[in-house]
Amino acid sequence: MFVRILVINGPNLNMLGTRETDVYGSVTLDEVETFVVSRASATGVDVTFFQSNHEGEIIDEVHRRAGVVDAIVMNPGALTHYSYALRDAVASVDTPVVEVHLSNIAAREEFRAHSVIAPACVGQISGFGALSYVLGLEAAMAAVGGGE
Ligand code: DQA
Repeated sequence: MFVRILVINGPNLNMLGTRETDVYGSVTLDEVETFVVSRASATGVDVTFFQSNHEGEIIDEVHRRAGVVDAIVMNPGALTHYSYALRDAVASVDTPVVEVHLSNIAAREEFRAHSVIAPACVGQISGFGALSYVLGLEAAMAAVGGGE
């Protein structure tokens, strides 16, 4: 089965590599994407990427691509904790969405422990650095019945 997965990154994730390296490490977003592609190519998944610092652009992308891709892996960044609009966008489409985070949001500041997006997703993966995206990809494939 040929599976198409869209990976969405939200605000400030374009700053990976130099942003709070004690929390997020020194890997850039480009490097994360290369890592995901290298792991995905072994399983026959077509992965595309989108990053925006703007809530509305991310919502537009979810609407635009939901009927085109089979699943979405999304790191909503700080939108995770307060964007009911993004949560509603996820809930408005049939495409399964897997929420991922580089850091373990349960082990950081209190405001990060809660995700308003997660209840609209098929699940959440948090705390494994770049590997969170690969695990998210596998979870997304399982959600659509693809993969090995
Ligand atoms: C993050 C966690 C969020 O709390 C934070 O606002 C981010 C990154 C993560 O990947 O660990 O921007 O989503």
